[in-house]
Amino acid sequence: MDWGMKNRISRIIKPEAGRAVMLAVDHGYFLGPTSGLEDPGKTIKPLLPYADSLMVTRGVLRNSVDPQENIPIVLRVSGGNSIVGEDLSKEAITVSIQDAIRLNVSAVALSIYVGSKYEHQTLKNLATLVSECEGYGIPVLAVTAVGREMVRDAKYLSLACRIAAELGAHIVKTYYCEDFEKIVKTCPVPIVIAGGKKIPEKDALKLAYDAVNEGAVGVDMGRNIFQSKDPVGMIKAVRDIVHKNVSPEKAYGALKL
Ligand code: 5RP
Repeated sequence: MDWGMKNRISRIIKPEAGRAVMLAVDHGYFLGPTSGLEDPGKTIKPLLPYADSLMVTRGVLRNSVDPQENIPIVLRVSGGNSIVGEDLSKEAITVSIQDAIRLNVSAVALSIYVGSKYEHQTLKNLATLVSECEGYGIPVLAVTAVGREMVRDAKYLSLACRIAAELGAHIVKTYYCEDFEKIVKTCPVPIVIAGGKKIPEKDALKLAYDAVNEGAVGVDMGRNIFQSKDPVGMIKAVRDIVHKNVSPEKAYGALKL
């Protein structure tokens, strides 16, 4: 792994503790103005001081994030689908490597849909993207999206995470589930967990705590932060858990809900 790749990864997974707090705000590429992201700039700005990196689309980055912000970018580079379209797994690569470089990103991210109708297309997207990004020292984060017909369990997520790693992803984003440690043990690259749909803050904090204590390097969390009644308090609490191993109970106590 060359210097550039290592340097970019270290901006996302902080070397001090090998942990990561990634704020995910890329949802609009297929969900549109989802709750909490109606005005992305207004949502994102107060949260940035507590995020290690920002997972974002090209459009929101260019239009809603100040270029003077000192925040490593994980650029969503897949899309071409929508919540009302034929099938969410019908994704393509939607950003060129040249534009990703122009945007000075620290990593790029795409989704794979193992077991879905367009599984092959999304896995081919990953392999092509990794081959291209390796040439520029840019790490690829693979999101193991779960098609509607799939069950989000350790058996399925282990399969999806391992396939992503085998195809060359440098970081994998998946979901926390029972027997999560089995997913970690069979995936040779770092794992971050998505928060998924909004759940009570106490449960989301426990999810983050359990995930990092069972081998995840951190979180790539969105809705459970920006849809909280106290988004800043929530990302601070997640950060305390991920970087200081604060208990979820103590972290929850600091929230102003
Ligand atoms: C949706 C994504 C999000 O980045 C991912 O799901 C994390 O966000 P959340 O914590 O809201 O699930 O891939 O496009």
